[in-house]
Amino acid sequence: MTVQGAVLRALRKPRGTAKQGFGETNRKDRWIAYPILQAVVFSLCAGYLTFSGVFWGPLFGPQFVEADGYLSPLFSPLILFQDMPTWLSPGLLILWIPIGFRATCYYYRKAYYRFYFADPPGCAVGEPTVHRRFALENALPFILQNLHRYMLYLAFIPLFFLWLDVFQGFGHWDGEGLFQGTAHPRIGLGGFILLLNTVLLTGYSLSCHSLRHLVGGRIDCFSCTAARRIRHTLWERLTDFNRNHMWWAWTSLITVTFADIYVRALQAGLFTDPQLLIRF
Ligand code: FES
Repeated sequence: MTVQGAVLRALRKPRGTAKQGFGETNRKDRWIAYPILQAVVFSLCAGYLTFSGVFWGPLFGPQFVEADGYLSPLFSPLILFQDMPTWLSPGLLILWIPIGFRATCYYYRKAYYRFYFADPPGCAVGEPTVHRRFALENALPFILQNLHRYMLYLAFIPLFFLWLDVFQGFGHWDGEGLFQGTAHPRIGLGGFILLLNTVLLTGYSLSCHSLRHLVGGRIDCFSCTAARRIRHTLWERLTDFNRNHMWWAWTSLITVTFADIYVRALQAGLFTDPQLLIRF
């Protein structure tokens, strides 16, 4: 056996204390209900978002989703360039960041390892014995989960632009296009949908385990210097967010899906955005 083989063998998954065998458990509750529900919601949202952001434009047009000054969060920031091939969706140029951020998220890993890979299917529930043959996150492809902290840094880029879209959504330009003519404040349902979505996405990012560690980790003494006291205060605030990370994860996934559907429906002319335009 090679050295690498020996190391990987040593890193393989331990047996654990749950009953052995797929689905074997002493639990009496309906433990399977949550993974099934989560699998349905996650698959519907992730499947729709991928299709809408990456494939819909090239297959059916238009290239991106924008209506009445509202830009779908899947296409923000909107990246267009000259001679852009029609098969390339501008969503793809930015979506790799939020997809990478969510795919490597500690919470989502727990969730989708459960409902997609039964690894394990639930707490104290036995998993397929075949799992013992794999090196889990110690080898490709799952070792890439360690990129999460870097995806966190990148995730603040689209988040910044989403906040700009929110401010833009509460204004209306009476010229031919965006930022042309005079801007008027407006209060529209689309603006509130973008606002709610961006607030929840911000909460999701601020509740990230990596961010909490970045701010408060690697310190032995929180009270020794003024800078460390500030970090401690920030760490406490982030801990408040972090306690509900699962809630932020699901609600923001649902609102980003809904926000895209809403703007797409406006773009298709299915209805008009209820709004109040304020002219001075
Ligand atoms: Fe979930 Fe970082 S742990 S976003």
